[in-house]
Amino acid sequence: EESISLESVMAEFKLSNNTLKRMMSHMSDNMDRGLEKGLPGSTIAMLPSFVPELPDGTERGTYVAMDLGGTNLRVMIMHIEPGEPMRTKQFNTRIPDKAMHGSGSQLFDYIAKALCDFLVEKDLADQDLPVGFTFSYPCNQTGLRSATLLRWTKGVTATGVVGKDVVQMLEEAIKRDGRAKVEIVALINDTVGTMVAAAYESGQCDLGVIIGTGTNASYLEDTKKIVYGMQNADDDYLHSQMIIDTEWGGFGDRNEAEYIITQYDKIIDKRSDHPGVNTFDKLVAGMCMGELVRLVLEKLCTSKVLFNGNASKLLKTPGKFPTKYISEILHDEGGSYTNTRQIMDELGIEDFTFSDMLLLREVCMVVSRRSANLAAAAIACVLNRVSKKNLLTVAIDGSTYKYHPFFDHWVTEKVKELLDPGKEFKIVQTGDGSGKGAALIAAIVFRVKKAEE
Ligand code: BG6
Ligand code: GLC
Repeated sequence: EESISLESVMAEFKLSNNTLKRMMSHMSDNMDRGLEKGLPGSTIAMLPSFVPELPDGTERGTYVAMDLGGTNLRVMIMHIEPGEPMRTKQFNTRIPDKAMHGSGSQLFDYIAKALCDFLVEKDLADQDLPVGFTFSYPCNQTGLRSATLLRWTKGVTATGVVGKDVVQMLEEAIKRDGRAKVEIVALINDTVGTMVAAAYESGQCDLGVIIGTGTNASYLEDTKKIVYGMQNADDDYLHSQMIIDTEWGGFGDRNEAEYIITQYDKIIDKRSDHPGVNTFDKLVAGMCMGELVRLVLEKLCTSKVLFNGNASKLLKTPGKFPTKYISEILHDEGGSYTNTRQIMDELGIEDFTFSDMLLLREVCMVVSRRSANLAAAAIACVLNRVSKKNLLTVAIDGSTYKYHPFFDHWVTEKVKELLDPGKEFKIVQTGDGSGKGAALIAAIVFRVKKAEE
């Protein structure tokens, strides 16, 4: 086996601005093709969201928002009043593994039960409240209430859902539960929710980005440029612009990013639930970042560069280095290395030196910095495509972005380097974006409907 050093690892993960620009140009080509031909013609699907318009500040009422993200299911009641901050009550739960990996009806039964439990507890079960559903997986939509799952990402494998209408599946599960009367008025991607919530709160948003378990972005596109997926659109949706869910996580699925892929990325992909699917997600987002670090550490041990060659059993076990370890290790400051020592303990590594700890930290830096650079390049790629406007607002949410101590700084600096001359941007971090976004979209639907009556 080839022997590696910290330097060789750093070289593999380092991406020059030239390489990033090359990737941006490939991404942009795929975005053009996606708009025209969808997934059959591109690795970036560019899915129409059918969100009719951004909030205008006159929305009001009480709505239910549900958010099925990478690891959590959240149910929220949102009160919206013009000029007032949104008020919310929420219920948060980690989705059990068997719901994510069993049958689709088990998954939807689980979601419906969480919804009904919450509504019953709050005495709202018979109110017929409108529900906005944030479902962060790629769907072909023909309207706000109709969404066919294209494929599972982020390691979910629930059977019998791909190719089905997930709004219908949820409605049926709510009926089976039988305890609550609600109406599902919209299904949106989490990036769409983030964008809509940020537009409501900061008055403007040009790009909604998630960097969490997976990564993705949405932006406003000129409707005349959107060809694929619009064949069956009804006239209601034909405004001059529409939010597009890029699904940039699929970039690389046809080997068009091979100049970025390392030996570690290949192992990750091969061992994943969906090999060959959502390559960019696997390079950038939290689902694989910890495992990437673990693979590098394992290799450094084999080459006797780390821990004098003595890796613990846990360090050799796939999945035992969660991504949160990276932010914890990088949060250590002041030389006491409290978090790092704690993690060594959890991994069962007893025999280590100070320089081992420094090396571990360096690997976390190198791997997560590549992720930040790639995310920045993707952001700059979309910003360079959109409008002639000079000041662009980017809303970002997701655990990977939020909990990492340097991610925000790294992304901001790199976007600056990659943006076309004359363009400027600012990043706003949204909290709870998709929950608020789902409720707001339900409110917009209500407002638009009322105006038509
Ligand atoms: C949350 C959003 O803050 O971030 C969710 O409300 C989104 O909709 C999530 O899916 C992404 O982060 P993670 O880490 O849960 O995948
Ligand atoms: C994955 C999903 C995408 C989602 C993103 C962030 O890439 O495919 O729909 O937006 O993760 O959660």
